[in-house]
This record gives sequence, structure tokens and C-alpha cells, in this order.
Amino acid sequence: MPQPYRVVVITGASSGLGAALAHSYARPDSVLGLLGRDRQRLGATADACEEKGASVRVATIDVADAPAMAEWLGRFDREQPVDLLVANAGVSAGPEPDSPSEGVETASRQIRVNLLGAINTVEPLLPAFCARGRGQVAVVASIAAYRGLPYSPGYCASKAGLRAYAEALRPRLAPRGVGVTIVCPGFFDSPMTDRFNGPTPFLASGEAAARIVKRGIDRGRRRVAFPWPLVLGLQFCDFAPAIIGDAILRRFRFHIRPGWALDE
Ligand SMILES: NC(=O)c1ccc[n+]([C@@H]2O[C@H](COP(=O)([O-])OP(=O)(O)OC[C@H]3O[C@@H](n4cnc5c(N)ncnc54)[C@H](OP(=O)(O)O)[C@@H]3O)[C@@H](O)[C@H]2O)c1
Repeated sequence: MPQPYRVVVITGASSGLGAALAHSYARPDSVLGLLGRDRQRLGATADACEEKGASVRVATIDVADAPAMAEWLGRFDREQPVDLLVANAGVSAGPEPDSPSEGVETASRQIRVNLLGAINTVEPLLPAFCARGRGQVAVVASIAAYRGLPYSPGYCASKAGLRAYAEALRPRLAPRGVGVTIVCPGFFDSPMTDRFNGPTPFLASGEAAARIVKRGIDRGRRRVAFPWPLVLGLQFCDFAPAIIGDAILRRFRFHIRPGWALDE
């Protein structure tokens, strides 16, 4: 049975999937907490949600800033107990085509944002969710969580870590009335994908991806992974002898431009 989530917090709501999810949760009785860093794009998402009748609070916070996240989330939840928390903010990058790897700063930045940023989003609200005996947490990982891909070591590590973190939480939280959905999308159209240089098989539109993700979350699914041919393909590469998985994945030529300026 679909859940009528009314109070929803979404990180990375200034762009792509997060913005599309914000639009789809906006309705006259909903209260949305939208987080991002780019004030202008976040404001545009908020305006569109308010036009649909939602009441919206925005915050420009870096998800890697644990104290700021805890402070804002705690205050928001005390005013409006949160029904659904979506840890969606993420960045991607990869090695330059001729480099052996991407270097410490690029790899650790993805882990800081994608993994630690999601933990900074989820942890502060868990005591309140458990005390109330209800609430849904969704984390947006990736199909890259299923198998390390040669073109994005730091990204794969961050998403595999996030998947493992959320899978570990799920059975701990279920008896306390709190659900966890792990979202593992394949390619979908967004500003992040615009920085991908290589094949993007089964590319979905941003709207289609948001519809699939929202439907899965609303039904309380434990896992939302799509499209199935890519999910199965990567699971095969994981189960198969490493020499076979490596040989298959080495064939793909793919480069990801980082989503941040090098001096940022
Ligand atoms: N696009 C794909 O094909 C694909 C596939 C699988 C999984 N995913 C995952 O889906 C999620 C959404 O991706 P997308 O494609 O929608 O990307 P996107 O359009 O680039 O949006 C990323 C969002 O994350 C926010 N963000 C990035 N760094 C942040 C930080 N340090 N603190 C706070 N917010 C931060 C951005 O906010 P600002 O712009 O305001 O900084 C933006 O709102 C990500 O977790 C991504 O890894 C994407």
C-alpha cells in the first residue's frame, strides 16, 4: 500500500533526481525540507514545490558538515516530525583516461560527500524516528554499489559503502518501526550524467527515474534497483571469477568529469 508521506526531507534537492523527487512529493498538505548548496537552483525547486501548494523550508548546507546537518535536521524534526528522509546528495568523478587512478583528494571527496554525507543525513534523525516508532529512510546509492568499475574507483567505493551501511541499518531499525530503502539506479538524465563521457546504456529520463524511485519508497521497498539488465550484468560480474568480471569491465571506455571546479 503506498505511504502518504507528508513531511519529507531531501538532500541534493537543487538538481537532478533530488529536485524531481521534491516536485513529486509536493502537494497542498506536504511540508518539505530541501537541502543543497546552490542557493539559486535550490530556490527554483522550492518555488516549483510551493506552486503545487507545499510548505517548503530550504537550507544551503554541505552534507559533509556533520554538526551543521545535525543542527538543522534536529530543529526541522522538532518543528515538523519527519515521515521520510531521502539522502540523495552525491558527486561523481573518475581517473583521467591516461592515469592509473584518480588520486587521494578526488577519491576521498566522493567518500566524504556520498558516504559520510549520507551518514550525516541519516544518523541525526534515527533516535527520533525510533522513539516515534515510525519513519522511512531512503539512501540513493547506485548500481556502482554492486561491483567496482574501473572508471570510478572512489565513486564505487562510496556507493558500495553506502549500500552496506544502509543494509546493516535495515534489520536493526525494522523492529523499531523504521523502514530503510536502498536505491540503486542505473544511468538517468541529469547534470551529473552530462559530465559522463562514454556509453550510458538504458539511460532513463530524470522524471522516469524519479517515478520509479518514488514508487519504490512509497511502497516501503527494501531495495529499488533498475534497470534490471544492468543490475543483473553487474551482479554477474561480481559473482563470476574476478578474471572474467575484470575482462568484461575493462572493455568499457568511460570518463567522468568531476562535478566541481578543481580549486573548489
Ligand atoms: N545520474 C545518474 O546517472 C546516477 C546514477 C546512479 C546514481 N546516481 C546518484 O543519484 C544521486 C543524484 O544524482 P543526480 O544525477 O541527480 O546528480 P546532480 O544533478 O549532479 O545532483 C546532485 C545533487 O547533490 C548535491 N550535492 C553535491 N555535493 C553536495 C554537498 N557536498 N553537500 C550538499 N549537497 C551536495 C547537489 O547540490 P548543489 O548542486 O547545490 O551543490 C545536487 O543537488 C547522487 O547520489 C548520484 O550519485 C546518479
